[in-house]
Amino acid sequence: MKLYNIKENDEQVSFGQAVRQGLGRNQGLFFPSQLPQFDDVDALLDEDFIARSTKILSALIGDELASEQVNAMVDAAFQFPAPIKQVKQGVYALELFHGPTLAFKDFGGRFMAQSLAAVSNGGKITILTATSGDTGAAVAHAFYGMEDINVVILYPKGKISPLQEKLFCTLGKNIHTVAIDGDFDACQALVKQAFDDAALREEIGLNSANSINISRLMAQICYYFEAAAQLTKQQRENLVVSVPSGNFGNLTAGLLAKAMGLPIKRFIAATNVNDTVPRYLETGQWDPKPTVATTSNAMDVSQPNNWPRIEELCQIKGWGLDTLGKGAVTDQQSAEAVQELHQLGYLCEPHGAIAYRVLGEQLAEGETGLFLCTAHPAKFKEVVDDILSSDIDLPAPLAKHAAMELLSEDLANDFEALKQVLRKVQK
Ligand SMILES: Cc1ncc(COP(=O)(O)O)c(C=O)c1O
Repeated sequence: MKLYNIKENDEQVSFGQAVRQGLGRNQGLFFPSQLPQFDDVDALLDEDFIARSTKILSALIGDELASEQVNAMVDAAFQFPAPIKQVKQGVYALELFHGPTLAFKDFGGRFMAQSLAAVSNGGKITILTATSGDTGAAVAHAFYGMEDINVVILYPKGKISPLQEKLFCTLGKNIHTVAIDGDFDACQALVKQAFDDAALREEIGLNSANSINISRLMAQICYYFEAAAQLTKQQRENLVVSVPSGNFGNLTAGLLAKAMGLPIKRFIAATNVNDTVPRYLETGQWDPKPTVATTSNAMDVSQPNNWPRIEELCQIKGWGLDTLGKGAVTDQQSAEAVQELHQLGYLCEPHGAIAYRVLGEQLAEGETGLFLCTAHPAKFKEVVDDILSSDIDLPAPLAKHAAMELLSEDLANDFEALKQVLRKVQK
């Protein structure tokens, strides 16, 4: 597999290098030079999840890894299903929260851990990642206890749900969690600064597990195929997929799936009021505003990292950006959507409900709608209970961590202070 740096096209890397390095020169994202094309998608969809995902990922990775090895990686990473549930006539939820940390990030985080182990050339590795809530947990659990890998996770202090925090800030061992005095964009900016520091990168073997890392996105492509496989041929010919978006990794993966041949009629980018992308699609002006805290906090992102990959792909494929659906939803509207779904007999948290809401506004007669449910409702228990006046049960992994002590350290939004932490965890 060859990939190039979107910002500095002469930087070309292999899959192994892209996974080890995370980000290219000048903070450029890596993008595949060629995308495999599946001509007989129906036959591919007839395969089971693991066999099909192995084919998709092997086709992407090419001869750098044997397909038996990719199969073993997929088998280890994807040990949980991605079922679709019908919520009403013609509208389905894709449940991506059946992994160990109850969010879609388990697919990418676990496949990235497998990928890094497969392509590592021996030295020490420090995974530095910023999280708006769910990435941290998925990455922490995927890498927990792995030898020679230290994980440092930055998150905005007081701006993620208490249960999200408990799920990854209680592990210890090689997992170090840092509560930054700032918002998610500040955390992400610190990570980028660390990557820009070549000496530091070398010294600590810096890597990122954010959706910057191509291996995460590659894993996410597979569940779009899995969703389509559960629909009839007729339904998937008119399929509209609504993606709750923050950093836009999930939508990038969906568009990559389409580019590889998955018949998806159109995508909808659904955000909360942090609506840089919907406004950009409307006006052509890239004008990020200060990030606003919402009840869908994992999408409180106003400078989405993966957007350049979407522009790149649309340009390559000749897809006009105007073919992307879009919509921004207030907390009040997302609460209404949670209530509406509850009345339909489906329990959903605000991120998935935002995708449902925008889908409902834009789905046309004769189309099949699919919205992505990116987290288990109990991960946002406080918000969901408040909206529904309920007391929903915690699934076992959450209940266990909720009772454990937080191990995070607090840190100012300051790069020099972060460098000290990164050096300290090496010792
Ligand atoms: C529950 C949940 N939904 C949606 C998103 C947004 O996904 P993306 O950042 O890939 O756009 C996130 C990201 O953290 C999330 O945790």
